[in-house]
Amino acid sequence: MKIFLDTANIDDIRTAAKLGVVDGITTNPSLVAKEGVQYKDRILEIAEVIDGPLSAECVSLEISELCEEARRVASWHPNVVVKIPMGKVGLEAISTLSSEGIKINCTLIFSVNQAFLAAKAGATFVSPFIGRLNDGGADGMILIRECATIFKNYPGISTEILAASIRGPRDVTDVALAGAHVATIPPNVLAQMIEHPLTDRGIDAFLADAKSYDPV
Ligand code: E4P
Repeated sequence: MKIFLDTANIDDIRTAAKLGVVDGITTNPSLVAKEGVQYKDRILEIAEVIDGPLSAECVSLEISELCEEARRVASWHPNVVVKIPMGKVGLEAISTLSSEGIKINCTLIFSVNQAFLAAKAGATFVSPFIGRLNDGGADGMILIRECATIFKNYPGISTEILAASIRGPRDVTDVALAGAHVATIPPNVLAQMIEHPLTDRGIDAFLADAKSYDPV
């Protein structure tokens, strides 16, 4: 499973990039707004650090404006994947833009049928939002499992399931078990995935024991 970092914070991206485990980045307007920067500037900055798919979201609501915005955003950098929210206008835009070779991440997916339609329209990625479903009392993992099963049933579907709205390390394990192609992870969750108290305790014990002989 690929790991994308779900952030627009350039320092967090630079730190994570050094680990060699980050395959791409997802951003959204809320994440960019927190940074107080211009969207295009930040996308170009991120593209210098991570050489992989880089999702940048469109916000136009009307079809021709959405397609124009998506073409503009896609032209920023070859790695840009245009994020388009699910819906009637979204599907029409995905089908138009994908036929032009523009890569799309269909975002705000909360049902299997939404994911299936976005895949049929030509999305490169579909983003089911696990955490937000769980917040509402549903089980986001069922959505990932069902998407994975349906996409496997139809080998003609090449769309990747990008598990989003991840809230903790266990979510990452669960979406991998469920068959997601990608998990997009906030930086704090990536940090938590690295740590284990038994690792720390083991290192302390080895360091203490290593004092009994001369260092190499
Ligand atoms: C994904 O691309 C979204 O940016 C993100 O995962 C949303 O997560 P949230 O529900 O924590 O805002």
